Amino acid sequence: MRIAVVGLGWVAREVWLPRLVKHPDMTVVAVADPRPEAVERAGSLIAGARLCAAPRDIGPGDADLVFVLTPNHTHEAVAGGFLRHGQDVFLEKPTATGADDLARLAESARAGGGRLLLSTAARHRADVGALARLVADGALGTPRLAELSWTRSRGVPAGDWFARRATAGGGVLVDLGWHLVDVLHQIWGAAPIRSATAVASADFLARGGWGAAWQSGGTPARPDADVEDQLTALLATERYGLHLRFAWASYETVDRTRIVLHGTEGTAELVTTFGFTTNRVTEPTLTLRRRDGERTVPLPPAGIGDEYDLHLDALPEALTRPDPTERSLREAHRALAVVDACYRAADTP
Ligand SMILES: NC(=O)c1ccc[n+]([C@@H]2O[C@H](COP(=O)([O-])OP(=O)(O)OC[C@H]3O[C@@H](n4cnc5c(N)ncnc54)[C@H](O)[C@@H]3O)[C@@H](O)[C@H]2O)c1
Repeated sequence: MRIAVVGLGWVAREVWLPRLVKHPDMTVVAVADPRPEAVERAGSLIAGARLCAAPRDIGPGDADLVFVLTPNHTHEAVAGGFLRHGQDVFLEKPTATGADDLARLAESARAGGGRLLLSTAARHRADVGALARLVADGALGTPRLAELSWTRSRGVPAGDWFARRATAGGGVLVDLGWHLVDVLHQIWGAAPIRSATAVASADFLARGGWGAAWQSGGTPARPDADVEDQLTALLATERYGLHLRFAWASYETVDRTRIVLHGTEGTAELVTTFGFTTNRVTEPTLTLRRRDGERTVPLPPAGIGDEYDLHLDALPEALTRPDPTERSLREAHRALAVVDACYRAADTP
């Protein structure tokens, strides 16, 4: 599969390009970014790829799949441009920062015939797979309440655009929360939201030193930030309750991701660390509690970032499914509904 990569920042450099270069069935044929230093750096990772300054330099038919890894506010314009030319696209999360953008992506795909795949690596995590199997086996019964949390100790993202609503579309909810909401929807399915209440705050962004060490070695203070660095929410959906807590920084000592699913027949609790942080839960655990007691469910061994390799392996098959674009847009709409409900409830535009 011939791959073009557009947007050559952190996620391209640290996550996708090294994996694409190693992948036996994928060849990076072109890369593009308006920053010459980013293009040069990417060029040093890949032999033989065409180095471009703009997405438009990658023409229809130049690649089988274009990875769009640009800042959130550009997703619709950049991905839409390729879809309109009949080019298949793999788009980073959040797919869009508003329903209007999703409608435009749908229109571009319809007009040009390009197909849209979403970046959803967390679904491929081994520990998430073990949790999904418990649910599929009926261990929890009818869904009642999902508690989703991802709390970093120090983990404000490095890029400037992450801290501005106009460029990021939101703060920690669209950055970390998106992954967990997507995983929940895979495991339990999405449900229409009846009501929501939420509290959002920005207590760490304006102070220096709370940055993600694995990205930048420390992020400066961002006094102009207008997104939340913490969000707590409670949503009632038509099928289950949803308790959310996300934080880019906190007084916790490790970065912890927790998914607790309470059903009529049991509760499953996964405690782990998503992402690439170096400050991790040392031993991830999955615990099942039922009428007959509590047991620890063994987790398959997994390395940091394995889910991204598995996601790449799954892409060719994802393109052969019927209506991949429709599926992607439906999933993005459902994740965005949770995001919108939380921001409305927190009174954040
Ligand atoms: N799936 C994951 O685990 C994960 C992890 C990190 C980031 N992301 C997502 O990846 C995207 C990029 O994040 P990042 O951390 O790499 O950001 P970044 O700021 O490090 O990199 C973005 C790059 O895009 C380039 N760019 C900006 N506008 C462009 C355009 N119109 N055309 C081409 N290139 C353009 C910038 O010059 C920059 O090099 C974001 O949507 C983010 O949410 C996903």
